[in-house]
Amino acid sequence: MTADRLRRVLLVGFMGAGKSSVGRRVAVGLGWRFIDFDEAIEREAGLSVAELFAKWGEAGFRSLESRVANRLLLEEHVVLGSGGGWGAVPGRLEELPEGTETIWLRVSAEAALTRVRGQPGTRPLLERKDPLVEAVSLLGERVPYYRRAGRAVDTEGRTVEDVAARILEILVSEYPELRVNER
Ligand code: S3P
Repeated sequence: MTADRLRRVLLVGFMGAGKSSVGRRVAVGLGWRFIDFDEAIEREAGLSVAELFAKWGEAGFRSLESRVANRLLLEEHVVLGSGGGWGAVPGRLEELPEGTETIWLRVSAEAALTRVRGQPGTRPLLERKDPLVEAVSLLGERVPYYRRAGRAVDTEGRTVEDVAARILEILVSEYPELRVNER
């Protein structure tokens, strides 16, 4: 939904959708900061996401994630890259601070797994016996929540630059006052 003024862009979607890499480029285009939820959580805890899952379990990670996200959602002139589980909670994408534009980066379970395979040890939820079965089932549960985002952009077969350019195009068409840096 278009607000009077765009204060922040929030990227949601499954692990491996490209929220961080695309988010960084979109932020450069807008001349805004990029903040990654997981990185902020790791900084606050002094532990990696994998270490947090191992030490406190998923529930412990989720409560810290929720606290950190609430704080980040008050920032302005930022592009936020959420964690794949954060946006998949009932009511979450419907109760965002004003001026937040939410974009769902779509990816299939297969493509997501191929992408995260290059970053071993970073996605504890996919380090199971059969990661594809896990990813298909988790994505199936989450899609109804991601769908609540204001916009959806497909990422498969597209480069990070293409996806970021598409997002900037969408934002400028909704908020003509935005000025986009060429590169
Ligand atoms: C998770 C996604 C991860 C990270 C954690 C849990 C999830 O973030 O927050 O491993 O539940 O989908 P990315 O979506 O950035 O990989």
